[in-house]
Amino acid sequence: MKIITISYRLPLSIKKQNRKTTITQTAGGLATAVLSYSEKSNANLTWVGVADFEKSTWENHKDGFSKNFEIEPVFLDKKLNKNFYNVFSNSVLWALFHYFPSYMEYNDEAFEAYKTANQIVADKVNEIYEPGDIVWIHDYHFLGLANLIRQQHPDAKIGFFLHIPFPNFEIFRIMPNKVKRYLLEGMLGANLVGFHTWDNAIHFTECVEKILGLNQRGFVFSQDSHRTKVGSFPISIDFDKFYDAYDKPNVIALRNEIAELYHDKKVIFSVDRLDYSKGINNRLNAFESFLEKFPEWKEKVVFLLVIVPSREEIGKYGERKRMIENNISRINGALGNYKWTPVVYQYQSVDFDKLIALYSSAHVALISPVRDGMNLVAKEYVAARKDLRGVLLLSVLAGAAKELQEAITINPFDTELIAEKINLALLMDESEQERRMQRMQNYLRTHDVFRWASRFLSETEEMHSHDNQAQPL
Ligand code: F6P
Repeated sequence: MKIITISYRLPLSIKKQNRKTTITQTAGGLATAVLSYSEKSNANLTWVGVADFEKSTWENHKDGFSKNFEIEPVFLDKKLNKNFYNVFSNSVLWALFHYFPSYMEYNDEAFEAYKTANQIVADKVNEIYEPGDIVWIHDYHFLGLANLIRQQHPDAKIGFFLHIPFPNFEIFRIMPNKVKRYLLEGMLGANLVGFHTWDNAIHFTECVEKILGLNQRGFVFSQDSHRTKVGSFPISIDFDKFYDAYDKPNVIALRNEIAELYHDKKVIFSVDRLDYSKGINNRLNAFESFLEKFPEWKEKVVFLLVIVPSREEIGKYGERKRMIENNISRINGALGNYKWTPVVYQYQSVDFDKLIALYSSAHVALISPVRDGMNLVAKEYVAARKDLRGVLLLSVLAGAAKELQEAITINPFDTELIAEKINLALLMDESEQERRMQRMQNYLRTHDVFRWASRFLSETEEMHSHDNQAQPL
């Protein structure tokens, strides 16, 4: 038996240096957790995803690639992939599911490309599937996939997990009927459909009831071939990896460098992919209002803002980048001076050690998405604080706010209140910081990504075996 995991991105990176190409496996949280489950259950792991490299690169270099599991890239035609990924996945589903209906750019050609891409990936899975395998599908790129696999393998064990929010009925219904039905029927092909929170699970069941006319009993939908259970499975992080990194010599050196650079200042920090759902301008406006309201902090605080480039080919992302950069330069121009730059901005990714050094140097992490399925940055910040210092300011519109009860919650649109909460956070005494961090760490230590993956996969197996035992005589 094996686990077949499907996600848009493959857990590998390809580097070309001095005419030499190397392929390496990337050790993201998801890959590590699924691998750990597959080892415990004595199963092999095969990862299926869309290649962002040429077929010839793969053919020429795959033999020199050392990895812990099998990788099966799917090669999509450029135009098809553009319509599938840039348009339907990221300019229809991403926009709507994050409650930005006015950003939706629907067209039929993109929907057809989405269906074709799901079918191509289903064909690849069907090719490698053997009875007894568990199929684990990830995210909004593959909402149609479970049903397509089910049609070929009525007995398959299939789990589907959505990494982004699932919207309420009023938002979901905006899409044409044929699209809504395809997506919901697609998801119902799974034995288990998982979301980050119960709110999302409830939105999904409401959409299924209202659009497909099916009724659920105890979050289970019964269909002819199988039943589908719907549940909440909040994703998490590899807690120990972030916690232990605090003591890495390189992290200590980097932290000392930051401490020296900002020895007379408090550090506010945030890191996100560039995305309109992350509320980056909301937090910049709140920071500006904080400096105006509490001018005593001028020159005594710095906001280190890291933005990781993302989806640069999509218009709304380029537009957002310009809006953010204009805002940063306006704030620095209006409030800074020759000795002090209030917002220190970087539009690049940071490597793991630097990230830990930044997390563990920040007096405040300011995380203000206007909609977020989970937000792992919030969890990472807490885990990285082995010193039990720092304060987490977290948007109530992030799934993580439901779990991290000792965070100071903010509404990203309540600029004035965030300004006050930044002030409170910077003044919070150490024993209170410690108490809050300790409680959140205790929670995350036991609710890590390994538990998440293992809960999800064992419930998929359970749901499947229930159905297969419950045959009437
Ligand atoms: O949060 C959803 C998600 O698809 C993640 O799985 C992924 O890491 C992130 O967004 C980045 O998106 P993309 O793969 O489009 O760069």
